[in-house]
Amino acid sequence: MAAEKILIVDDERLVRWSLRQKCEEWGYQIVEAPSGEPGLRLAQSESPDLILLDVRMPDINGIQVLEQVKKNPDAPAVIMITADPQLDDVKTALKLGAYDFVGKPLDFEELHVTIQNALEASRLRTEVQSLRGEVRRSTGYHDVVAVAPKTIELMSFVQKVAASEATTILIQGESGTGKDLIAKNIHYDSSRQNGPFVAINCSAIPETLMEAELFGHEKGAFTDAKAMKKGLFETAHGGTLFLDEIGELSPLLQAKLLRVLEDQVIRRVGGVRDLQVDVRVVAASNRDLEKAVREGHFRQDLYYRLAIIAIFIPPLRERPEDILPLVDFFVTWYNRKFKKSIRGISPETRRLLLAHNWPGNVRELKNSIERAMILEEESILRPVYLPFAVGESGRSGLTAFEHSSASADGGGKQLSNGRVLPRLYIPEEGTSLEEVERAMVELAMRQARGNQTHAARLLDISRDALRYKLKKFELVPAGEEENSEPVPSENSSTQ
Ligand SMILES: Nc1ncnc2c1ncn2[C@@H]1O[C@H](COP(=O)(O)OP(=O)(O)O)[C@@H](O)[C@H]1O
Ligand SMILES: [Mg+2]
Repeated sequence: MAAEKILIVDDERLVRWSLRQKCEEWGYQIVEAPSGEPGLRLAQSESPDLILLDVRMPDINGIQVLEQVKKNPDAPAVIMITADPQLDDVKTALKLGAYDFVGKPLDFEELHVTIQNALEASRLRTEVQSLRGEVRRSTGYHDVVAVAPKTIELMSFVQKVAASEATTILIQGESGTGKDLIAKNIHYDSSRQNGPFVAINCSAIPETLMEAELFGHEKGAFTDAKAMKKGLFETAHGGTLFLDEIGELSPLLQAKLLRVLEDQVIRRVGGVRDLQVDVRVVAASNRDLEKAVREGHFRQDLYYRLAIIAIFIPPLRERPEDILPLVDFFVTWYNRKFKKSIRGISPETRRLLLAHNWPGNVRELKNSIERAMILEEESILRPVYLPFAVGESGRSGLTAFEHSSASADGGGKQLSNGRVLPRLYIPEEGTSLEEVERAMVELAMRQARGNQTHAARLLDISRDALRYKLKKFELVPAGEEENSEPVPSENSSTQ
C-alpha cells in the first residue's frame, strides 16, 4: 500500500519543519503549505488522506479552510492544531467535521495516535461507502427485498419514477407493505437525493395545526405565533416531501394542497406573498382513494393530480416468493442488532411462514421474526415463538400463549409429574390467565385430533375435568357436529 499523504498547513516555518520530520519518520508522505490559500489549492490538487491544519493564520484562518475543504463529500480527515484553543473555535470546527484538536506545543506521541485513528476512521468510512455502493449495485435499490416477479416489476417501475421529472407521486398499498420504504427509495434514487427528505403523517396532526405545519406561518399569524416559522414545504425545498396517509387530509387542506401542486407556490399562514418552492410530493395511502373519491371523502381533482403517477404495492400474500427472502433479510438484520447467530429456520417454521396469510404484510413478518429471535435460544428459529404458531383462529388468548410439542426438547421446565412445562410468554400489554387455560384446552384437543381421552391425558387431567372445561370455555368438542347447540356455560343452570 502506498504511503498515506498528509498535508500540513501552518504559517510557522519551524512547526511545519518539525511536523514534516516526525510524519516522515512515521512513514507518511508530506506536502506542506505556509497559509490557508495555498493550503486549499493543495487540498484540491494533491488529494491528501489527512490534513494537519493550523487555526490562526494570516490570510484565511483554519476554520474557514476547514469549511471549504469539507464541502467536498470525500474530504480527507482534518486535525486542527492551535496554540490557544478557543471553545468557540473548537465547537465550530467539530461541527464542521474536524476529526480532533491538538494543542501547541505539540505532544508528538499523542499526535501520532490521533493521526492513526483519524486515518483509520476515514478508511472505514470509504470501505462502508464502497460496500454500500456494491450492495446497491447488486440489488439495485436500498434495503428492499424483491424476489417475487411482482415485486421486481414494481421496483423497476419505482426506479423509473424516481429518475423522472414527476413532481407528484402516489403510493398505495395495505399497511405494512412498504410505502415508507418505497418513498425513501424514490428520494434517494432521484436527483434530489442530496436535498432533504421530509415526512409527515397527515392523520397524526389536528386539522387546525396542519396548515401551519405544511405551509408555515408569519409572526403574529395567530395567538401562539411568536415568531415566523417555516412550513414543511419550505423545509423540503430541493428535496422530497412525503405525505403519509393523505386520505386523512381535511377537505380544506386538500384544496390548499391541490393549489400548491399545480402552482408550486405556497403561502405561509398570515402571509401575503407567494413563495416559490421546488418540492417533489410523494403521497401515500392505505385507503382506496378512488373509493374515497366515489364516497365524497376525497377531492376528485386532487386524486387525479396525485394519481398521474400511481404506484400500487401488492399485499405480501400476493407475492409469496418474497416471504423466505424477507425472513433471511430480517434474520441477518436482527443477528447484527441483537448480536445473535441464528443460522436459519426449521422446516416447520418455514411451512408455517409460507402458510400464513400476513394481514399485516411485511411489517407483521418483520415483527414476528424480531420476537422469535429475541426468544429463541437455539441457533435455528423453531415454530414455538411464532405468534401464530398455534393456529389462525384469531382468538386473543391463543396468540398470548406458546404452543409446543417441541418444548419437550428440554427447553421447558421439568415438572414433578415427569412432564414438561411448555414455554410461555406474556405480551407487554398483559394477557388473561383464563384465556391461556382455554387456549391450552383447545390446543390439547387439536393435538389429540378431537380425542378427549387423549387430550385429557396430554393435560394430566381426568376426562370429566376436560369435559367440564370444554363446556366452561364453550369449546365445541371437535368431531361433534358443526352446528351443535351451544354448550351451556358453567354459570347457566344445569340441564
Ligand atoms: N420489500 C421489502 N424489503 C425489506 N423490508 C421491507 C420491504 N417492505 C417493507 N419492509 C419493511 O417492513 C416494515 C414496514 O414497511 P413500511 O414501509 O413502514 O410500510 P407501510 O408504510 O406501507 O405501512 C419496514 O420496516 C420496512 O423497512
Ligand atoms: Mg407507513
